[in-house]
Amino acid sequence: MKIVVLCGGTSTERAVSLVTGSDVCRALRSKGHKAILIDVFLGHKDIDVEKIFDEEFSVDEELKYIEENSKDFDNIKKKRRNFFGENVLELCKACDIVFMGLHGACGEDGKVQAALELMGVKYTGANALSSAMAMDKAVTKKIFAADNVPMAKGFKVSKDTAEKMPESYGLKYPVVVKPNCGGSSIGVYFAENSQEYEDALERAFAYEDVLVVEEKITGREFSIGVVEYEAYPIIEIIPNEGFYDYENKYKPGATKDVCPAEVDEESAVRMQKAAVDAAKSLGLDTYCRVDVLMDKEGNCYCLEANTLPGMTPTSLLPQEAKVIGLDYAELCEHLINISLNK
Ligand SMILES: Nc1ncnc2c1ncn2[C@@H]1O[C@H](COP(=O)(O)OP(=O)(O)O)[C@@H](O)[C@H]1O
Ligand SMILES: [Mg+2]
Repeated sequence: MKIVVLCGGTSTERAVSLVTGSDVCRALRSKGHKAILIDVFLGHKDIDVEKIFDEEFSVDEELKYIEENSKDFDNIKKKRRNFFGENVLELCKACDIVFMGLHGACGEDGKVQAALELMGVKYTGANALSSAMAMDKAVTKKIFAADNVPMAKGFKVSKDTAEKMPESYGLKYPVVVKPNCGGSSIGVYFAENSQEYEDALERAFAYEDVLVVEEKITGREFSIGVVEYEAYPIIEIIPNEGFYDYENKYKPGATKDVCPAEVDEESAVRMQKAAVDAAKSLGLDTYCRVDVLMDKEGNCYCLEANTLPGMTPTSLLPQEAKVIGLDYAELCEHLINISLNK
C-alpha cells in the first residue's frame, strides 16, 4: 500500500510524535509497504508527489530534513496561517491511507481527521468527532457520566470560573489539576491543600485556559488498549519514583511496565469492561488506549481515552499486542486494516 505517515505538528507532544511516526514508517516499510514519513506542519518542498512512493525513501534522511527545518520552529509557527506544510495534503490525496502518527493538539483532537474526511482521504484511528470529544477531558467526563463509565469525581475550571475551590464541588484534598486538552502528563500537578491548589492552578494555567480538577486516586495505575471494542491485555505502570509524569513516560528504565498485569480475574474483567465502555461511550470504534486507576479498595476509574496512543515498539499498546501474539509491525498493519474497513 501507499501510506503517508504523518508526524510532528505543533503540539507539546511534537517530539514524541517524531519518534512514533518514524518507528511506524520503518515498520511499514519492513512489511513491503510504500510508506513515507512527513511532518504535517513542516511539509517537504521539492518532492514529486507522483513519483515519491516508487522512489527510494529513507526515514533517517527525512528526520534529518525535519530537524534542519525545525531550527526556527517557534518563529515559523507564529508566522504561518496554514497548518498544513507544503505537499502534505497532496501526498495524503495520493496515498491509500494516512497513518496518524501525531499526538496532542491538531493531530489527536480531530481537526486533521476532519480535513482528511472532507477530502475523502482514509486515515487510521478515531473519526473527527470522537477524537475531539476524547481530547477534551471535561467533555469526556460529561459523556462518561452519562454512560456510567467509572471515573474520578471532578470539575472544569477556567480563568473566569467564579468558584474555583474543590470544596464547592464536593471534592476533598488531595486533588489533581490538569490542562483540559493536554497529554503526556504535561502540566499535571497535585495539591494537598488550598495553598498548593492555588499554586497548581497558576502553573497549569500556563499551558491552557481551561483545566480539569479531580480527586486524587491513590493506588495502582493501568492502561488498556481497546481495538474494535475488544480489550487488549491490561498493562500495569509502575514508576520507580513519583507518578507517571513526562519523564517517567519517556525516560528508558524510569517505569516498569507489567503485561499482563498481575491482578485477580474479577478485577481484570471489571477493568477491561470499563475500558471497553469508555471507548464505546466516546465512539472510538477503531482503536484507543484507556488509562485506568485502581484505588486501595479495588474500585477502578477511567481517566481518559487516548485516541492516538504512543506507537514506538516499547510503547504501551505495542507491549499489550505482543502478549496476544502481534508483533510491532503486525500491529501497525492491523491498525491500518481495521481503519480501511471502516
Ligand atoms: N485523578 C487522578 N488521581 C491520581 N493520579 C492522576 C489522576 N489524574 C491523572 N493522574 C496522573 O497523571 C497522569 C496523566 O493524567 P491523564 O489524565 O492521563 O492525562 P494525560 O493526557 O496527560 O496523559 C496519569 O497517568 C496519572 O499518573
Ligand atoms: Mg493519560
